[in-house]
Amino acid sequence: MLIDGHGRKVNYLRVSVTERCNFRCQYCMPEKPFSWVPKENLLSFEELFLFIKVGIDEGIDKIRITGGEPLLRTGLDKFIKMINDYKSGLDIALTTNGYLLAGVAQDLKDAGLKRINVSLDTLKDDVAAKISGKDVLKKVKEGIAKAQEIGLGVKINNVPLKGINADEIIEVLEYCKERNMPIRFIEYMENKHANDKLEGLSEEEVKQKIATKYNFTEVKREGASPSKMYEFDDGYRFGIINPHAHDFCEDCNRIRLTAEGVLIPCLYFEEALSIKKAVKAGDVAGAAEVLKEVLRNKPEKNKWSSDEENETSDRAFYETGG
Ligand code: 5AD
Ligand code: SF4
Repeated sequence: MLIDGHGRKVNYLRVSVTERCNFRCQYCMPEKPFSWVPKENLLSFEELFLFIKVGIDEGIDKIRITGGEPLLRTGLDKFIKMINDYKSGLDIALTTNGYLLAGVAQDLKDAGLKRINVSLDTLKDDVAAKISGKDVLKKVKEGIAKAQEIGLGVKINNVPLKGINADEIIEVLEYCKERNMPIRFIEYMENKHANDKLEGLSEEEVKQKIATKYNFTEVKREGASPSKMYEFDDGYRFGIINPHAHDFCEDCNRIRLTAEGVLIPCLYFEEALSIKKAVKAGDVAGAAEVLKEVLRNKPEKNKWSSDEENETSDRAFYETGG
């Protein structure tokens, strides 16, 4: 079992397989980065897998593949199969923008993928184009429909932004409810890579909008999820993630690995160590040592807060997969 320096059990590993993305979301990567990490600096699936095996042997049982956009990396289904074949019963999930999903959903599911999270910020074509930089909505909706049709669990992420998509919260919620898909509204997290004119809705503002039409009550969080959960009278649940509060940190069970092999103990924390040297040398014990060192250093609370800006990490969301 993996226990961090604050006594928390860590069983959840998020693995970014690429920082590249085919969208240019305003809140994440509005401009193409000045330079991408050169392809040769990315760890191969075999190298990532070496580390993942170490993690699984130590107690990781939940793995989420993220990006950038993970579906840009070819052979992702084979990577998932490697992980899935290593140990049965793992909870393997993927976060995607959905654009390329319809064509690969079945292969991913056959490889062992259980669940996906897809961003759906709007139901309007022009707003989707405004947020993501191109006309994406039709393909995203097709991807979501296909994934549901073949039995993948689908959860929706939505970042409400003032003057852009905030007026559609109820419509998007109803779209999800009709399809029995959970939705989580995520407070926009300011970061130096995003469009600095954006203004997100607070948790309170999201609740107020939904309350104009529906009754709901707060229910227990699901496991160590950072999402507060709310339930309608008919049992449908939605979530709100408020990273501006620190109140989910005490249950935090996760660590993150970037596509270059940097192992990050907390999204909002600059310190991290690389597993690259160890995995390139096939050094299992060395990789395990880095894992333990990172866990010792996992901060108690996230350092994200607008008044502690100096302590906030400069890392981009597209490096860590959110
Ligand atoms: N603030 C909040 N959520 C973000 N995401 C990406 N960037 C931000 C940000 N600045 C979320 C998107 C996407 C997920 C991968 O991360 O909702 O679904
Ligand atoms: Fe790409 Fe996701 Fe970032 Fe949008 S939020 S630019 S889809 S990585």
